[in-house]
Amino acid sequence: MKGIILAGGAGSRLYPLTMVASKQLQPVYDKPMVYYPFTTLLEGGIREICLISTPQDLPRFRQLLGDGSRFGATIDYREQASPAGIAQAFRIADTFIGTDAVSLILGDNIFWGGDTFQRAFAEFTTGATVFGYHVLDPERYGVVEFDAAGKAVSIEEKPKQPRSNYAVPGLYIYDNEIVQIARDLKPSARGELEITDVNLEYLRRGTLRVFRLGRGFAWLDAGTSSSLHEASAYVQTVEKRQGIKVGCPEEAAFRRGFLTLGQLEQVITTIPNCEYRAYLEGVVAEARVN
Ligand code: TTP
Repeated sequence: MKGIILAGGAGSRLYPLTMVASKQLQPVYDKPMVYYPFTTLLEGGIREICLISTPQDLPRFRQLLGDGSRFGATIDYREQASPAGIAQAFRIADTFIGTDAVSLILGDNIFWGGDTFQRAFAEFTTGATVFGYHVLDPERYGVVEFDAAGKAVSIEEKPKQPRSNYAVPGLYIYDNEIVQIARDLKPSARGELEITDVNLEYLRRGTLRVFRLGRGFAWLDAGTSSSLHEASAYVQTVEKRQGIKVGCPEEAAFRRGFLTLGQLEQVITTIPNCEYRAYLEGVVAEARVN
């Protein structure tokens, strides 16, 4: 399976932070935001990645992540000329997707806890898999409604009167039908190619699965000043308490077998002396004794 990180958009809610650097390059505690969704893909076993951003911001992402080899991955960079909707990503990346299945993750979505995604990636065969997460303010998101048997029966984009508290987070898994579905999509009333319309098409075909993310799972969306701050505080709390890092792509690549121990050691030599390097040295030391 291939992976797309969508890291464009206007970032208007984070003005003036986003005047000089895009939202997904802003720090979430001790790393750039994009490290978190990137790590989620690596943890899920996805190492062929396409990163989509604006023409202005793309060079910065390239500077940050390079060709991906430092993380045992490959990264293909593509431009989105203007923010015409999340589902436009599949048109931009169609030659990257080729004949494969693909997972799309939004560059400002931070996930933590459990192995639901790993299992969903591993079990995926056909159709579409999306997730449902209980939130206080579902009207800000795509909202999924379940029947008594737990089957998804409707999805609505930013409904005024949500039919449930289950929002659809920014991680979606699709079979190769997505390429044609995205090609046939019409812009919505707000002029965007909507990801909810993609999910509705799979629902109509009877091939959409929606997994509910359980109580122990954190989904943070870092799109506003408050939620950005809260995401930083959350990551700091976990890291300080546990002594493990959230969203460390080098570690994820190593644990997934995308980097050997020797390769990780080589990568560490390129990192300046800092807490991040010390952490990775700790990962190596632990692996050596086990
Ligand atoms: P949003 O947070 O909905 O939009 P935004 O990032 O443009 O921010 P704002 O509303 O403050 O102006 O987008 C969700 C994610 O999807 C975010 O990571 C940006 C990304 N995105 C794109 O890359 N291209 C697009 O066309 C859209 C609509 C979103």
